[in-house]
Amino acid sequence: MSKLLRQPVTLALIQLASTASKPHNLTHARSLVLRAAQRGARIIVLPECFNSPYGTKYFPTYAETLRPTPPSETDSPSYHALSNMAKEANSYLVGGSIPEYDTETKKYYNTSLTFGPAGQLLATHRKVHLFDIDIPGGFKFKESEVLSPGNNVTVVDLPEYGKLGIAICYDVRFPELATIAARKGAFALVYPGAFNMTTGPMHWELLARARATDNQVYVGLCSPARDVGADYHAWGHTVLVDPNAEVMESLGAEEGILFGELRGERIEEVRKGIPLYTQRRFDVYPDVSEGKIRFED
Ligand SMILES: *[C@@H]1O[C@H](CO)[C@@H](O)[C@H](O)[C@H]1NC(C)=O
Ligand SMILES: *[C@@H]1O[C@H](CO)[C@@H](O)[C@H](O)[C@H]1NC(C)=O
Ligand SMILES: *[C@@H]1O[C@H](CO)[C@@H](O)[C@H](O)[C@H]1NC(C)=O
Ligand SMILES: *[C@@H]1O[C@H](CO)[C@@H](O)[C@H](O)[C@H]1NC(C)=O
Repeated sequence: MSKLLRQPVTLALIQLASTASKPHNLTHARSLVLRAAQRGARIIVLPECFNSPYGTKYFPTYAETLRPTPPSETDSPSYHALSNMAKEANSYLVGGSIPEYDTETKKYYNTSLTFGPAGQLLATHRKVHLFDIDIPGGFKFKESEVLSPGNNVTVVDLPEYGKLGIAICYDVRFPELATIAARKGAFALVYPGAFNMTTGPMHWELLARARATDNQVYVGLCSPARDVGADYHAWGHTVLVDPNAEVMESLGAEEGILFGELRGERIEEVRKGIPLYTQRRFDVYPDVSEGKIRFED
């Protein structure tokens, strides 16, 4: 039996399209989650912004209040929809991300909720890294004008399987977060995310493979499907790579479900072949997984 992943598990990454009607999109997400479960998936992931159009300008309209936990049905229909989906599917569900409004801090967050098979909330990840870019006379995209960052590394323990690292989109570009989760024992890292038509072809799969190469764990990136009618065109190409950074499967631009079987033996085999885990030199450089780290509480 593998120490990191206690038994093989089927992971499903759902690439769905979301548009203007939240209730419709929640129902649609539910049908795909149940379909994934029927096909044997026990860990199911939804994409970033699965219940709203993509873009910070939609936050005030679509944001939900998640605290105190559990929120009421009116405060957060998505929380309850996800909890019910997890229960109906009898699976772990990484609920993509939704726009959150915290009435106490009066701030917006890009937040991912993870539920267990009994419908219980297991983890809340608020996107840690906000994307700000403002090239004079060029591209401008300032998440920080609307959003606030989360402050924790999120590693959730799934009792039958092991630990899963969860982060959102731009977080994938920061290797420290991935390495901390992996050194804390994660067998896989999943990122709901939505790269665009420039950064997608350039870096999406590369980053999945890079984080897998660094850490010798499974990495899944789960994108919305491309909707050419929306103002943001997501690259799509949801992808799952193995601990040796080999692409197990990837999707195109359209809606679909990617399935992959994760096996602890594969992680061990890769780590035996290239023994990074025993050959690090913390006498030469520090271990990023030591010291003061904030975990989701
Ligand atoms: C979201 O809702 C809109 C409006 O009802 C619908 O056109 C669209 O197909 C939905 N998207 C998904 C993924 O269900
Ligand atoms: C999350 O961040 C993206 C950019 O990375 C932003 O445009 C998007 O609206 C946010 N989504 C949610 C659901 O919070
Ligand atoms: C993250 O950490 C801070 C500080 O420990 C805590 O207040 C907060 O509730 C945690 N969770 C999230 C989702 O940010
Ligand atoms: C995608 O985002 C990058 C910045 O991350 C920007 O330079 C580029 O112009 C954007 N591409 C499209 C097609 O919007």
